[in-house]
Formats: sequence, structure tokens, C-alpha cells
Amino acid sequence: MCGIVGYIGEEQAAPVLLEGLGKLEYRGYDSAGVAVHNDSGLHVVKSKGRLAVLEEILHKGETLPGTVGIGHTRWATHGAPSDVNSHPQVSDGGTFAVVHNGIIENYLYLKNHLKRRGVEFVSDTDTEVVAQMLEYYYSRNGEGPDPVLAAIKQVTDRVEGSYALGIICADCPEKVFAVRKDSPLIVGLGDRENFIASDVTAILSRTRRICRLKDREIAVLERDGASFFDGDLYPIEKPEETVEWDVAAAEKGGYEHFMMKEICEQPEALRKTISPRIREGRIQLDDIPLSREDIQGISRIFIVACGTSYHVGAVAKYAFEKLLRLPIEVDVASEFRYRDPILDEKTLVIIISQSGETADTLAALREAKRQGARTLSIVNVVGSTIANESDGVLYTWAGPEIAVASTKAYSTQLAMIYLIALYMVQELGVLPEEELAGYVEALEELPQMAARCLEEGKEAIQYFAAQYFNAGDMYFIGRNVDYAASLEASLKLKEISYIHSEAYTGGELKHGPISLIEDGVLVIAICTYGKLFDKMMANIREVKARGAVVLGIGTEDMRSKLAQETDWQFCVPKVPDFMLPSMSILPLQLFAYYVASMKGCDIDKPRNLAKSVTVE
Ligand code: AGP
Repeated sequence: MCGIVGYIGEEQAAPVLLEGLGKLEYRGYDSAGVAVHNDSGLHVVKSKGRLAVLEEILHKGETLPGTVGIGHTRWATHGAPSDVNSHPQVSDGGTFAVVHNGIIENYLYLKNHLKRRGVEFVSDTDTEVVAQMLEYYYSRNGEGPDPVLAAIKQVTDRVEGSYALGIICADCPEKVFAVRKDSPLIVGLGDRENFIASDVTAILSRTRRICRLKDREIAVLERDGASFFDGDLYPIEKPEETVEWDVAAAEKGGYEHFMMKEICEQPEALRKTISPRIREGRIQLDDIPLSREDIQGISRIFIVACGTSYHVGAVAKYAFEKLLRLPIEVDVASEFRYRDPILDEKTLVIIISQSGETADTLAALREAKRQGARTLSIVNVVGSTIANESDGVLYTWAGPEIAVASTKAYSTQLAMIYLIALYMVQELGVLPEEELAGYVEALEELPQMAARCLEEGKEAIQYFAAQYFNAGDMYFIGRNVDYAASLEASLKLKEISYIHSEAYTGGELKHGPISLIEDGVLVIAICTYGKLFDKMMANIREVKARGAVVLGIGTEDMRSKLAQETDWQFCVPKVPDFMLPSMSILPLQLFAYYVASMKGCDIDKPRNLAKSVTVE
């Protein structure tokens, strides 16, 4: 939800800012802008539309001289996408330019307060309030030791909500200021150049040395270094980290879209997530303190997440309940946080998030901690807020996921779920040794199974997509883990191709949704779960009798039976039941991709969406 960057150095700022914004465009892409400091003051150029529009206006940055600046790519929350609502937002007197990611919840109250004191507003954004407040307090702070820092504190003392702010001030031409609360922001340290950014991908080509700001901490960047202050303006030391991510991992590497690149990276991402955690046939979760006694003390597990990560939770319920016979509740984070869940110290809350910054998921984590539950997170982005605030974190080593539609994060999150469930089984000794060894072996083989499945899927699924990419509606059905996979397959299709689709359990169809089935409607039936295969065949007959065309996704051993009942088939390698979604999702990710591509959709940046949803 919005990406921000800032630069101070010896190069021209605008091209550096535009390059950084290019890496952050996945966070929002309805408008973009930059503000640069030069000899004649603060200069702002911003525009509604993609970053390409701004680049065109600025001729790739060449027409905006200056070596200090801030930039923004927007996902609108307050005020429609428009030139005037784009960031940077500038204060009435032109002293401050501000870029913001987050939501100022009490902005209306603050806005009215300033309006009564004669401040004129031009935009509908919550961010303009920050710019105007900065100027309002700064102009009253006089010649104190640091009137800008004092104004930042006065503002952060008063605003409610979430923010990552990049600020430049006309009276401080050699500084960039930054502060955050509940929205991500890092400081990048270079050689006579320093940066701020919403995430590391924006600055990875220029430095790997970063510092992470905690809530309400302030950074002041100059050419030769950065200084840090706590919320009360006391100087603080910040530890430096080195980012290990490969620069190439954040590039397209010859693929037309990040999504296809990330689909194809899944076998490798799975290998990186799984293999370091299995040694001599035993699962080792060194990264978290979860002893046998700890596990014995757990009476209930909650799994909480949003979107695709929530769909991982839907699979996890089947896996945990089958293997551990423990009650599992799976919740959408935005519901969990408001439904007053009943938790105690015997409850384990597993939080799943690719970005580690999703606002609802973070709030759910905090609620769980507030109620005394143990928390464990599965996160992809190292050092993210959810990772930092959980009692334990297990990283999925998927590398940067740039496409808005999540693919390799889903696969690696699933792998992490299998690892946790099997680890608990191993520590508790609740399964015969050979059975557990079989599961562990299957888990180790998952990356190569995924590679085979993708290899076989590409051509067949592309051909199939070509027959149906014009469809208006599609339905996904499945039972047990296949239903959980259907939820994700349906989301993938609708978010990038804009085709209306729904996922139903096979058994639920006749309770209503079957009325939607008519001649030629495409139903994708996931039938990999052997125990309910015959039930699914009965459901397929029901929809076919009403005119549906059916693509069956089954396991290789059921190919001929599947062919008897369905119009089209695609078969995936057979793996243990609870791991089946790791296979069945692969052809359906490809299907969503090819359909969207044939429809000419903007695959990596679907309309109205953003990669990490850092607002409620
Ligand atoms: C999936 O393709 C989506 N982009 C979205 O549902 C995403 O999974 C959700 O917003 C949760 O994000 P997180 O994993 O970063 O918390």
C-alpha cells in the first residue's frame, strides 16, 4: 500500500528515486510523484497514473536537478487517484514535502483544527494533514536546537494510525527525515549516499547495508551518514544489517512477468525452505524454541492470515487435525481481531504472512499476544514487523515475491506448515516411526515433484486456457484438501484475469450454487483426494448433467477413471494426502496466468490491488 523512497547523495536524485519507485510499484500504482531539493527550493512533480507517466513527464528524471529528494507510488486510501491527491504532499507555505504510506485515522479532526486556524488544504488526502501540521508547528518552534525534529515529534504525538513518512524541508537542503509507526520503512546506508525505502528491493542495487526503524523512531539522513532518535528525540544507536537477497532475485530475469518467474521458481524456493530443516531424516526447527513440553502444553491452535496466506491456513487445518488430532481454528485476520477470540497461554496462534506487514494480520498477532497466547509466525520478508513481534518466526526462503498474485509464497508457506505439523508429530511420538519417515521423505521430494508438475503443465494448461479465456464465470469445486486448494485457485484466477469465479465444496453445490450451472459453464474439479474421489465423480456428474464443461485435476494413478467422467484432465504426481494442494495448485496458477495473459491483463499489477496491504 504505497511505496516510499528517499535519497541524499552525490548523484542526481530524480533518476535514483524513479529507479527505486520502479521496484516498489507493486505496492501501489495509481499515481506517482517526486520532490527534489535544489538551489531554488523544493520542486514537486507528480501525476495520476502509472510510474511510466511520471517518467515521461520527467524524461527519466533528467529535467529535475538536485541531489536530495523523496518519491512515492500510491495506492489510494483517502481521496481518489488524481494529480492533486498524489504524493508528495506539500504544506501551505511550501516548507515541507511529505510522502506517506499508511493511514492517519484522526486526519479529519486534525484537518478541521488547522482549517480553523487559517490553513488551506488542497487535497482530499490524510497525508496533507501531516505536511500542514509540520509547517504549523515548525513555524511556531522558533530557533530551538532542531525545530524540524521538534515539529516531527509534535506531529507524531498527535496523529493516530499508521505511517511511514519521508520528509524534506526547504530550510534544510542537506537532509532527508523519516519516521514510522506500523508501516514498514528501512534506512539504506551507502558510500556518501543514503536512502529510505518501504522495502529493500528499492535500494538493493545500491546498497546492502540497512537499519530498521522501530515505531516512532526518527532517522535524519545526510550525505555522510544517518543519525537516529527515539520518539522523545533522544539520540539512539541503530544496529546495521546486511541484506543477503540476491539482486537478480528482484529482477524479471528474462521472463515477461514476475508472476511466471515466481511460478517457475517454486521448486527451488521449496528446496530452500525444506532442506535446511531436515537432517538425517529428522525435522529440525532450530529457529524456534518449541520443546516437547511446550507442544504437550498446547490445547488449541489458531491459524490467522489474509488472502492467499489464509488459504494456506485452510490446508493447514486438514494437515494438523489429521496428524495431531488437535482442534484447529482458521481465521481471516480482519475477523479474528474483532471477534473477541477466546485465547489463553495454552493456545498457539500461528500467523502467516508473506510480507510480514499486513495490517490486519499484525493487529491479530498483537491481539493474540495481548491475551497471553503463544505466537509463531511464518513470514517471507526477513526483519518485517510480524517477524519481529512474534514469539518465534519461521522464515520461508522464497526470496522476494514481486507479482501481486502470490505463488511461491503460498507453496513455501504450505511447506512450512507440513514441517511444523510433522515436527510436532515427531516430538510427541504420536505416529509410527515408518509412517513419519515416509512423510518426511515425501516432503524432501516435494521440490522435484513440483518441478515435474510445472514442466508437464505448461503446454497442456496453456492450450486449455486458450479454449476458455473468454469465459464470464468459472467455478472450482473440491472436497477436503482439494476444497482448500480450490479457494486459492479461484482467488488466483479472479485477481489477475477479472473473471468471476467461486470455489465450493463438492457437497455444498446442491444447496444452492448448482443453480448457476448452465450450458457451457466451466467447472474445474480438483479430485486429488483419493478417499473422496468417488464423491467428487458424483458431483461432476451433477454439474455435467446441467451442461457444465469439466476440467478434472487428479493424481496420476487416477488418470483413466478421471478421463471417464471429465471433458479435460490434468494429472499431478501423487503425494501424501495433506500435501496434495502443493501439487494441484501448480497447474491452476499456470491456468490463471495464461488466461490473464490471453485477455491482455496487467498480470503483475492487477487493478485495485497492492502487494502488501498495510492499511486496514
Ligand atoms: C494473493 O495473491 C494476494 N496478493 C493477497 O491475498 C495476499 O496473500 C494477502 O494480502 C496477504 O498478504 P501477506 O501474506 O503479505 O500477509
